[in-house]
Amino acid sequence: MRVLVLSGGRSAEREISLVSAEWVSGELKASGHEVTEVIIEQDGCWMLKGSSGNLSFEAGPIPWKLCSGIKTILFDVVFPVLHGSYGEDGTVQGLCAVAGWPCAGVPVMGAAVAMEKHTLKKLASQVSVPVVPWVFLNENPDNSIESLHEELAALGYPLFVKPSRLGSSVGITKVNTPEELRGAVQTASGYDSLILIEKAVDSAREIEVSVLGNGVRVFSSVPGEVLPGREWYDYKAKYECDESELGIPADLSASQTENIRMMAENTFRLIGGRGFARVDFLMNNHGIWLNEINTIPGFTSISMFPKLWEATGMNSEKLLNFILDEAFSRAEHGLSQ
Ligand SMILES: Nc1ncnc2c1ncn2[C@@H]1O[C@H](COP(=O)(O)OP(=O)(O)O)[C@@H](O)[C@H]1O
Ligand SMILES: [Mg+2]
Repeated sequence: MRVLVLSGGRSAEREISLVSAEWVSGELKASGHEVTEVIIEQDGCWMLKGSSGNLSFEAGPIPWKLCSGIKTILFDVVFPVLHGSYGEDGTVQGLCAVAGWPCAGVPVMGAAVAMEKHTLKKLASQVSVPVVPWVFLNENPDNSIESLHEELAALGYPLFVKPSRLGSSVGITKVNTPEELRGAVQTASGYDSLILIEKAVDSAREIEVSVLGNGVRVFSSVPGEVLPGREWYDYKAKYECDESELGIPADLSASQTENIRMMAENTFRLIGGRGFARVDFLMNNHGIWLNEINTIPGFTSISMFPKLWEATGMNSEKLLNFILDEAFSRAEHGLSQ
């Protein structure tokens, strides 16, 4: 297939996207696909990797086209390898839908819901997928830390304060005392006007499951466990700490494994998932809670998402082909979103 791999983007996770896209593009080329790599710059311009000059795009029938001053690029499917806002959040998926381009991965609504942790938690709790208790701050001045005093007291400390629509642990603070709360909210508000204040799960184990779906069936991988080399899985533990490790498969009983896989599949169905995602849970001796669903998870040779599939018997070639075929056949049936 002729695949247009999109990376970069305007979010705080831009750099991670560039690394993920390099791996995805390499693997696609190795399996015989024709790959065009397009980088979305921070100002929103689309650039052909390695060349200067913006690209313009055209809506229209197959084959779809992107044009630069010197070159017309034909492609069969778009593969967004973008993390965070303006990429993983339904915006690029919507752009593709409007243009009529087949687009790999979770469609508009699911991508948008998954990106917004508050909405995802509300939905999940309605279908009995347990989530950690939280309170929510938005731009409404009536909705301040002071006004939420009772709810916050009910949660108890420690707490996690998070921007509602970001990833890679950017802007997240673990708060141990009430005095630290205001500073943590300020940090999070540097990234998002919607903020989640969540009860910290004591001695949390972090269990993750990869999922694939084609609209008829949802498939889940064996669960894996993140063993952060730091107190929690912050940005440093994710990208800079050599001691962070992945335990694959996670050390769980057969019934725990079955339960977690079922919850992962249900969460994917809940958001109308197609294509792929990684569903993350927090767990301790008292329970298991859905933490989040990443519709474009980290995607490199050392990332949990492909490694879990490898451990489930699906190599990267089969994995990427499933994702491309699903996107293409969805578009053929007129279901671009
Ligand atoms: N409620 C919580 N209890 C314990 N640890 C948490 C909690 N929420 C987040 N964390 C820690 O913070 C990390 C990042 O939080 P997460 O919600 O996954 O944000 P991101 O989308 O940035 O990955 C988690 O992997 C975990 O280590
Ligand atoms: Mg996470």
